[in-house]
Amino acid sequence: QVKYLRDYRPPAYWVDTIDLNVELKETDTLVRSTLTVRRNTDEADETTPLILNGRNMELMSAMLDGNPLSEDQYQTDAEHLTISDVPARFTLETTVKIQPQQNTSLEGLYRSGGMFCTQCEAEGFRNITWFPDRPDVMARYSCTIVADRKKYPILLSNGNLTDSGDMDDGRHWVRWEDPFKKPCYLFALVAGDLFCLEDTFRTQSGRDVALRIFVEHENRDKCDYAMQSLRKSMKWDEEAYGREYDLDIYMIVAVNDFNMGAMENKGLNVFNSKYVLAKPETATDADFWNIERVIAHEYFHNWTGNRITLRNWFQLSLKEGLTVFRDQEFSSDMTSRPVKRIADVRVLRAYQFPEDGGPMAHPVRPASYIKMDNFYTVTVYEKGAEVIRMIHRLLGPEGFRKGTDLYFERHDGQAVSIEEFVGAMADANGADFSQFMRWYSQAGTPEVTVKRAYDAENRTYALTFTQKCPPTPDMADKAPMHIPVALGLLGRDGEDMPLQLRGESEPGPTTRVLELRAAEETFEFVNVPEAPVPSILRGFSAPVRLRAGYTDEEQAFLFACDSDEFNRWDAGQNLFAKVMLRLIRDIRVGTAPDLRPDMIESFRQTLRNTDLDKSFIAQALTLPTESELAILMSESGDIDPDAIHAARHFTVRTLAQALKSDFEQVFDENRDAGPYRVEPEAIGRRSLKNLALGYLGKLETPAVSRFIAAQFQKADNMTDEIAALSVLSHMDCEEREPAIARFYERWQSDVLVLDKWFALQAAARLPGTLDKVKALLEHPDFSIKNPNKVRALIGAFCGMNPWRFHDASGAGYEFLADRVIELNAINPQIASRMVAVLNHWKKYDAGRQALMKTQLERIAATPDLSENVYEIVSKALA
Ligand code: ARG
Ligand code: ZN
Repeated sequence: QVKYLRDYRPPAYWVDTIDLNVELKETDTLVRSTLTVRRNTDEADETTPLILNGRNMELMSAMLDGNPLSEDQYQTDAEHLTISDVPARFTLETTVKIQPQQNTSLEGLYRSGGMFCTQCEAEGFRNITWFPDRPDVMARYSCTIVADRKKYPILLSNGNLTDSGDMDDGRHWVRWEDPFKKPCYLFALVAGDLFCLEDTFRTQSGRDVALRIFVEHENRDKCDYAMQSLRKSMKWDEEAYGREYDLDIYMIVAVNDFNMGAMENKGLNVFNSKYVLAKPETATDADFWNIERVIAHEYFHNWTGNRITLRNWFQLSLKEGLTVFRDQEFSSDMTSRPVKRIADVRVLRAYQFPEDGGPMAHPVRPASYIKMDNFYTVTVYEKGAEVIRMIHRLLGPEGFRKGTDLYFERHDGQAVSIEEFVGAMADANGADFSQFMRWYSQAGTPEVTVKRAYDAENRTYALTFTQKCPPTPDMADKAPMHIPVALGLLGRDGEDMPLQLRGESEPGPTTRVLELRAAEETFEFVNVPEAPVPSILRGFSAPVRLRAGYTDEEQAFLFACDSDEFNRWDAGQNLFAKVMLRLIRDIRVGTAPDLRPDMIESFRQTLRNTDLDKSFIAQALTLPTESELAILMSESGDIDPDAIHAARHFTVRTLAQALKSDFEQVFDENRDAGPYRVEPEAIGRRSLKNLALGYLGKLETPAVSRFIAAQFQKADNMTDEIAALSVLSHMDCEEREPAIARFYERWQSDVLVLDKWFALQAAARLPGTLDKVKALLEHPDFSIKNPNKVRALIGAFCGMNPWRFHDASGAGYEFLADRVIELNAINPQIASRMVAVLNHWKKYDAGRQALMKTQLERIAATPDLSENVYEIVSKALA
């Protein structure tokens, strides 16, 4: 059943308060809910029934204003409770029985290990009690939890603890009240036997907030970094946005079974434990970085998401795009701005661009959906953040801040739409964003082509931009977008030239933002002394595909000297990609591949450049992945996974051979001196050192494998340990199996470290990997019910090992379909995430297409197919 944005109507009834009483028991749970309901007279009259959402629950009793409802006063179906003839104001009390122990979908109330927890976004609250489960119904919540005192000493919900007590049957109870109105997707409840790390934060206005992180007792030594990240986030939001925390207590709970990263429930965030738990022996630099980022993200939601929430789910990017933008800026301030930008754009191009060009293409504000959970996408999140970033660029930091100040002032406590956000930006700055709004309604990645003309005689330089947005399944014709293009011009000396546009009396700054609005537009610069090399789309100022027609020499030049580090990195990537695409062509026609010496030299110069940040060098010298090459290859023909693998392998190996001593030296120079620390300088050294290790691994000599195994043995932190082990995992050498076994021995009691162990074996490029993955499904530490394990084993094989997954036999496809069918019955959200790998089946050769299609059809024909999987598969096949 498709839902459309254009059909949105405000609710017929408001709920002002909800009082919950949740009795947690060993087999089932009783939920009594008391709602005070008020008719929305703008939308409804006496004849309008009250319709509540609910499913998987048994209705025990219902009372309206204290009187039991008789059978003829209400109707239920699988998803609704309908009560006709209700007064303009009334209280409704319902009692339902639910079975969290049986809930494997991890939506609503469920068990994870020894604890109870909830996940309500997007539409999980309807698994807990009858309620108008939509974000524009905001109510005040109180919640009493009753449970066994020994098994569940900790009982948590949103807001402040107001009362508690013991019962004489061994149970106890706790009452929580949340003073802020909120939509039901922000409700949370947790019960368990948990360790609590406690700290306090003094806000800028001088209030003390209690900070509590709850984890299983065995993880008590892994919470410090999360706590530190929380404190940094709170401080940053005060400084950057003037946003202060509003309750007296902020809680975070780590759970092992969780469908996504984390959830911003008011005052009680629930996190996938992977984004909380860390210590140097068990977590990598990337893990630490992600923890800081996700803690910040959920914290920032308190204002962008909770205080101001969504009118309907189509507006999801209002909170997610904005909050991702905010967490990106936070991370940039905590680490390195260019490196963070590079990492973000890598994700955007590797995942969002394909989504935008595939069967699931949708605008940042989707116009329709079948299952909302399928729209927690890179488009809504990451492209949504890019759209906010463009507004930030167009208005500048001060203008943007004026806009957010106005937004918070106007809309605090409301459920609003994207128009309200952009409207505040426009009003605070007297700006016009009407054309800009197309970024929210048109899917597809615009292509921007640039033609350049230098006129030596008149010393002018003209850049002509054309833009075109490709058709997507939902929309054929697109109107031109408002696109900010940040630009600089480099002289022969590699320096930025002063920029003077025709009509200006003097030169302005060396980076200018040109605003494209028409399908074709020309910008002319005057007083240009020589033909420049343009550095276009600096900092990736818009989420577009740029066709600038650079020669290899121009790209090598930009890679060597662009002052904009993002574009410097990008020039290198484009050059390497171009070189590898040529190698792919050679390999396919049977020509012996060959790497040009100037490419090797340009690589070496960056490797040995001591002026550059080491994390930047590591990013710059990480060649485009096989998946990234596949995307580029698909722009001009079928993807050939075998040739892609061969070409990339050849390139890495040739570089390793040619630069062996450089890599060895870089490795030696960047060993950690002293204890492990999570800070940019040390992270940079480790990234560069482990990059060198990765290249050296491709030499595949006995001496090299001994060396890498030795690094693995003596590593004293997980970053180095896993780096060495993953290099070994791709090598056919005698050290491989013992190292993998040793790692298991060492870490078998740590579920998060074991995820790395599963993932690395699934990503191995060796033949026989699929059989290994199948064998690991039976491993006692694997569980198909645990999403992290599914992502680690099945996700890594299907998503991170394209060469083996796309084996021409089709065995990989059949394996995936089997797992999707299995997961469909267990956890539809995870099943639909997994099946999405097949979305791009049409980009492969006829043989693989047929094999993938067969599997998609097999999935489509599965009895009891969830709406989640149905939506993805039917769109892929359409
Ligand atoms: N709001 C959460 C976050 O971005 C994610 C919720 C995802 N929900 C889902 N059904 N996939 O922090
Ligand atoms: Zn979010």
